[in-house]
Amino acid sequence: MIVETDPRRQGILILDFGSQYTQLIARCVRESQVYCEILPYDAPFAEVEDFDPAGLILSGGPATVTELSTPRAEPKLFEFGRPILGICYGMQTMAAQLGGEVENAHHREYGFARVIQSHRSVLMDGLFDDGDGHSDSGLDVWMSHGDRVIRLPEGFNPIAVSENAPLAAIADEKRRFYGLQFHPEVTHTSQGRAILSRFIHRVCGCAPNWTPENIIDGILENVRSKVGSDQVVLGLSGGVDSSVLAVLLQRAIGDQLTCIFVDNGLLRLGEAEQVLDTFSSQLGIHIVLVDAAERFLAGLKGILDPEEKRKAIGRMFVDVFQEQASEIERARWLAQGTIYPDVIESAGGRSTNAKVIKSHHNVGGLPESLHLQLLEPLNELFKDEVRSVGRELGLPEEVVDRHPFPGPGLGVRVLGEVRSEYLQILRQADAIYLEELRQSGLYESTSQAFAVFLPVKSVGVVGDDRAYEYVVSLRAVETIDFMTADWKRLPYELLARVSSRIINEVRGVSRVTYDISAKPPATIEWE
Ligand code: XMP
Repeated sequence: MIVETDPRRQGILILDFGSQYTQLIARCVRESQVYCEILPYDAPFAEVEDFDPAGLILSGGPATVTELSTPRAEPKLFEFGRPILGICYGMQTMAAQLGGEVENAHHREYGFARVIQSHRSVLMDGLFDDGDGHSDSGLDVWMSHGDRVIRLPEGFNPIAVSENAPLAAIADEKRRFYGLQFHPEVTHTSQGRAILSRFIHRVCGCAPNWTPENIIDGILENVRSKVGSDQVVLGLSGGVDSSVLAVLLQRAIGDQLTCIFVDNGLLRLGEAEQVLDTFSSQLGIHIVLVDAAERFLAGLKGILDPEEKRKAIGRMFVDVFQEQASEIERARWLAQGTIYPDVIESAGGRSTNAKVIKSHHNVGGLPESLHLQLLEPLNELFKDEVRSVGRELGLPEEVVDRHPFPGPGLGVRVLGEVRSEYLQILRQADAIYLEELRQSGLYESTSQAFAVFLPVKSVGVVGDDRAYEYVVSLRAVETIDFMTADWKRLPYELLARVSSRIINEVRGVSRVTYDISAKPPATIEWE
């Protein structure tokens, strides 16, 4: 084992060949409590040396090694003396670059496959699946490839075979180079995490030191040394990222932190009170509450177009925030809850150069006009890690496990023009929905759930009277990355209870519908 006190040293470096699963690989490595970063496949070798990885992972990718113009790994990586794991395209390019051969298979293999271990290897020895009655000590894995390796480079042995990929896993134990044709990073490969963990811990010798406690210690130290005795301003939204950041910053610099919480009138039921109670009363964080509800409502009058609404809300937020922040003496830093996926996404499409950091969509434009330096202490963390850090810091579960809430808030959930009357109806309906979802125990397994107000009227019967009232639609989705999503199959009984409660308890609603659209083509929000 490598004894390293800074958990960010001697981690794993993932070189991205464009796979849709690259972030998943990174999350698996982090779940093994080892720090990792993603760089584009053609990052300058100096950057790789600078990172000083204990091991490298070459990701999959959409291209084919059988064409000359497609991505290749930097040849120096194979002379670097560090262990390498190539996954799918990563394995194919490694095999081809080291003298093996890759062919275009006759048909694409996509889905479950059974691989049988043919040679003992530290990567998979003793791991097998027999859950579905197999007696061959093989593994159930997930394949997604068109090409396959047909001849191994010198020094390599096959370690697992499958019907469609006779070289499903390969190893050169001497150089510590490994290749997997299947995807260990997806949950369908049930032993996938164990295989990755073998590579990370046993082959690369990484210590499991990327823990919430160490992450917190690192952030506190970093923030203190950067900020010194300056004042820091944070826009607190009540969402997971800014909440965790507020607590971290308070730990790091105490009363040098001022949080600005803007009540834009587009918050959910009781949200402003809840945020004040948790952060100000319970945690003693200095919060400036700005009641700007009237100002936002007035500014949204007559605007129907979703993008125009978003822009207007963004502009007003900047103005209000700026007015408040400029009153804080000696403020030098603007803290933002940017997380690692934001960093990766903003660097996406670019294959070289260092990271470009996206300014958070809720506070975009602020740094320049306020002359504040940007402080982004969470920018190395995935969302799950932010949550673990939050739990470790003792934040209440209702804050840590919160579904995401968009910056423009209920402004994009009241379709068309935002009116006070509509917001009131939506707030009550949404609160009933979330209360029932929590009570049914399904909140945590739902990625995001909310109600939407439709400004159309429909006929109903309430008591003996004809009602002609508005429509509320319920949305619940399951997703890993919010880029694609499926609608959640909520139990009918729960939907029935929510619908009946909303129609009975919320004046102005005569009909409730359930949104069964997937993303794509629909988006998660309605606007
Ligand atoms: P869509 O609707 O694009 O949403 O499928 C994907 C995720 O992003 C959130 N979202 C936003 N968040 N400002 C934000 O801070 C926005 O303007 C915005 N629009 C959508 C949405 O709630 C979902 O989690």
